[in-house]
Amino acid sequence: MHERSIRLGLTFDDVLLVPKRSGVATRAQVDTRSRLTRRIEVAVPIVSANMDAVTESAMAIAMAREGGIGIIHRFLSVEQQVAEVRRVKRAESIVIDEPYQFGPERTVRDALAFMEEHGSAGLLVVNGAGQLLGLVTARDLLFANGGDETLASVMTPRERLVTAPPDVDPEEARTILHRHRIEKLPLVDASGRLAGLITSRDIRSRLKHPWATKDPKGRLRVGAAVGVRGDYLERAAALVDEGVDVLVLDVAHGHTEAALAALERLRERFPDTDIVAGNVATADGARDLIARGADAVKVGVGPGSTCTTRIVTGAGVPQLTAILDCAEAAAPHGVPIIADGGIRNSGDLTKALAAGASTAMLGNLLAGTEESPGALVIRNGRQYKTYRGMASLWAAARRQSLDRPVEDEDLSQIVAEGVEATVPYRGKAGDVLGQLVGGLRSGMSYCGARTIAELWERAEFIQITAAGWKESLPHDIEPA
Ligand code: XMP
Repeated sequence: MHERSIRLGLTFDDVLLVPKRSGVATRAQVDTRSRLTRRIEVAVPIVSANMDAVTESAMAIAMAREGGIGIIHRFLSVEQQVAEVRRVKRAESIVIDEPYQFGPERTVRDALAFMEEHGSAGLLVVNGAGQLLGLVTARDLLFANGGDETLASVMTPRERLVTAPPDVDPEEARTILHRHRIEKLPLVDASGRLAGLITSRDIRSRLKHPWATKDPKGRLRVGAAVGVRGDYLERAAALVDEGVDVLVLDVAHGHTEAALAALERLRERFPDTDIVAGNVATADGARDLIARGADAVKVGVGPGSTCTTRIVTGAGVPQLTAILDCAEAAAPHGVPIIADGGIRNSGDLTKALAAGASTAMLGNLLAGTEESPGALVIRNGRQYKTYRGMASLWAAARRQSLDRPVEDEDLSQIVAEGVEATVPYRGKAGDVLGQLVGGLRSGMSYCGARTIAELWERAEFIQITAAGWKESLPHDIEPA
């Protein structure tokens, strides 16, 4: 019989970061900029999880505005997922290239339904040649009776609109919007054709969120998940067409032949789109994904708060060790690691990054926020939101009820690897991120690190005992 050695696997609670001599005078001196993928930078190294109780467009918009990014989950029909991406990409931009447009003969009812569905506050009215005829805003429609009127009868006509040429300078556009106290500035070319739209809302948002994660057109960045089976290639193509910034190949065990083959196909078909692949928990897993072209590797097998993978299957690697191993393997290739799952506070976030991750993916901490999908539940006078693992029975049932199922699954055959739960309501995602980033900045300054790269260099972990952990928590006090 050959001898087997068993390695020790550690997780966040097993370690602390040793305080270092630090020249960082204030938290403001700490720069949390990092990379999500080879090419995409973020000011805040936090990603919202591609779970159906966490990230749809509202969360992705909030995350990108705050300097992080959200990944739209894949448990939607292709059309629905594409529509979520569209909402994020249209949420703000310097110039909206293709503003929503309707013909003058369309009814108020049509316009209201469209605006409701697309979350838009106005529509431009154009003729068949694309020439601008007028503008309708929610206000114009508010008092229309019945809804059968044509847009031509309620719009503000072209001659009363302030417009600008397509090449107007953004600063000049701002002055025009301000001078006329208007919200929307249609851009019109010499032949009267609509060529774009600038809104004061976008300008205000740009001033308010200078660190927002944006593409070169000034639109918020967003990612979207795809699976490894069924329609994943068509899904990916539709998402890329819509302008998605990053595809996330999302599978519980990312170190399988099926996942590697899917990654290879995605890489070949979409050479210009960044692809995140995962999940893995070993250096070999990370290396194999990188060899197939991954632009970032998502790490975590079983650490998530709703995961029962380790209990059901016996498989997994404690998350700190998984991050350390994968980061070491990925570093020579310049491929960032995303630490996915198990992060409960800013201390865990700092430890995950210090172990070599470039960003961290959060499910639980964001599931309770206003922007997560799903309703508030009130229990015993307290507010909660529902949260569930994507490998839970409920999630599998939802997948089956989709018009076009993502995967063919027979419920009786499902062995769930996740649970359903509720989490306390936590207010706005931006406030949760603010607290986390504040803690991270302090944590980095304890390590004497001004940047994430310095954190990787300077961080020193010390392994602790159960007594050390007990000492770390508040103790020997009575509740206030
Ligand atoms: P947290 O701890 O932030 O973790 O809630 C979020 C991550 O958990 C993973 N996830 C699952 N893992 N069974 C699992 O084993 C599941 O049903 C499940 N659902 C989500 C996923 O990686 C997510 O980002």
